[in-house]
Amino acid sequence: MAETVVKIPIKPIRLIGVEGLDERQVAAVETPYGTLAVGISAGKPFAESNRCRHLFAKLDDGRIAEDGCLECPWHAARFDTRTGKMTRGPRGIFKPWGGLVKRTTGSRPLKTFPVELREGAIWLQPGA
Ligand code: FES
Repeated sequence: MAETVVKIPIKPIRLIGVEGLDERQVAAVETPYGTLAVGISAGKPFAESNRCRHLFAKLDDGRIAEDGCLECPWHAARFDTRTGKMTRGPRGIFKPWGGLVKRTTGSRPLKTFPVELREGAIWLQPGA
């Protein structure tokens, strides 16, 4: 499925200072495009739509996992922060259906917003 990258037709918007991120490396930020999950993975900034494709948990309550993916706080599905694609289906009691979730609701990537890291902060970038 094609990536869902949202174009920003306005001037850059400062989302969050790097010092505003805790050890989970993701936080919620209110924007004109709704609340986004914003953070840093492997040194690269990201901004994604904030609801898990499984049961809509808030992804800003999750964390960046050891593989660099954004992990959902409820059932540990993982998302590639560069593309918004689900890389792993839910775990725990949903693990038997993890592959099915990944192929169905999880096949629709998170919306991914163009961002840049500069001046110690993450910025939404116009026209990227
Ligand atoms: S709500 Fe995210 S994995 Fe279940």
